[in-house]
Amino acid sequence: MDERYPRLVSEALEARERAYAPYSNFAVGAALLCQDGTVYQGCNIECAAYPAANCAERTAIFKAVSEGQRDFAAIAVVGGPAGQKPDSLCPPCGVCRQVMREFCGEDFNIVLWDGKEARVYTLAQMLPCSFGPENL
Ligand code: THU
Repeated sequence: MDERYPRLVSEALEARERAYAPYSNFAVGAALLCQDGTVYQGCNIECAAYPAANCAERTAIFKAVSEGQRDFAAIAVVGGPAGQKPDSLCPPCGVCRQVMREFCGEDFNIVLWDGKEARVYTLAQMLPCSFGPENL
């Protein structure tokens, strides 16, 4: 595993502390590693009008893109019931996988934390036979 990933998981756990999830009580944190080494953190942000919620992964990606970043190496994602330490994987939802597909190559790494150790997947594994910008 890449030597930068343990720190990335720590950054995701830190971001998770800021999750705003009063409706699901499911807190998620993400940390997005740019090719230049910059890390953008994100948390899930819910809304009384439920569909307006944003996932932690997209919060991090949109923060980065809005700051001019588009070259990404990896994202760490951690999640679980609020107030408890995560003890199982929190795989990205389909919408977040599609947004990753917009900006990231097939070898982009998705680092998941099961509470004890990190597991690394590629975007190609998580979103096979995908539709992306070059299909248009
Ligand atoms: N959530 C994320 O932030 N990322 C994921 O990968 C899965 C789900 C959020 C959305 C919602 O606020 C809560 O977790 C429950 O679905």
